[in-house]
Amino acid sequence: MKNNLSNIKKSKYYLNKGECIAIPTETVYGLAGNAYSSKATLKIFKLKKRIKKNPLIVHYHNLKMLNNDCVISNQFFKLYKKFCPGPLTFVLKLKKNSKISKNVTNNKKTLAIRFPSHPLTKKLLKLLNFPLAAPSANISTKISPVSKEDVKEEFGNKIKFILDGGRSKIGLESTIISLVGKPRILRLGGIERTKINKFLNKNIKFEKKNKKITTPGQSKLHYSPGIPIKLNTTKPKPNEAFILIKKRKKSYKNYYYLSKNKNLKQAAKNLYRILREIKNKNYKSIVVEKIPNIGFGEAINDRLKRASVK
Ligand code: TXA
Ligand code: MG
Repeated sequence: MKNNLSNIKKSKYYLNKGECIAIPTETVYGLAGNAYSSKATLKIFKLKKRIKKNPLIVHYHNLKMLNNDCVISNQFFKLYKKFCPGPLTFVLKLKKNSKISKNVTNNKKTLAIRFPSHPLTKKLLKLLNFPLAAPSANISTKISPVSKEDVKEEFGNKIKFILDGGRSKIGLESTIISLVGKPRILRLGGIERTKINKFLNKNIKFEKKNKKITTPGQSKLHYSPGIPIKLNTTKPKPNEAFILIKKRKKSYKNYYYLSKNKNLKQAAKNLYRILREIKNKNYKSIVVEKIPNIGFGEAINDRLKRASVK
């Protein structure tokens, strides 16, 4: 506990100086910087090798601070009360007098925001007098990190500090819902689409194409382990890694299980960890068993599809 406290203080010190550090969240680790600082946010893009037109998500401690930057609607408030803090990101209207750096939004009039639930990051946000812009802490197009070690693998000593919060509980990025205009889900993720729909008594669709903004690696390679991935396969070749949804009685050393018993939540949590483990071995390619396209399976299939783009 004492250690955590001094690490949070260290994080605050670097962030106040306009540096970038990695922070743990319940979804994946983020590469964080002061969202009001053009210096800090520019650094995030550089470190990630991210294209400028892909906007960042901003992380808040509470509604009070969000109120300075975004227009808050009744619908937002309803969802906020139910799902926050947690793995849900909202795209909202940006206020004209907001101090959010133009780097974050790429000069757009909307802002993606969320309230992470990881206890260390919550404590850190509370101590700061600015919100944190934080995309996933990986080099663009690569696999998102779910532990301190993963972040190290991505950036080596290029970042000043990693706040170690253990392994990410959800293991997959937040669900993104746009509340600007008609509600739309822009990215499947840590909260199932059906759960949101049930709560709102609506059928909000996942919008794969968003013409105005390049959202989560649309149709382009993303979440990639750097070797070919083939989906919906039943049999691997010996030099291929085989990802399965459920443990088999007869197993081989190239078999990787997303879950013991077809549990899709567990599978989502293990996906990036397993992709990274395979990436670090000498496989030539990966094949994946068919994953049911329900609940968290939707998000898993979405990530696998993008990772398999040639
Ligand atoms: O779980 C998460 O959301 C993690 C953790 C660290 O919070 N963050 C994350 O950030 O996944 P990132 O940058 O890797 O993915 C955010 C996506 C981007 O691909 C971007 O296209 C989209 O959110 N986005 C950001 N601002 C947007 C906006 N105003 N409108 C539409 N999409 C936006
Ligand atoms: Mg990302």
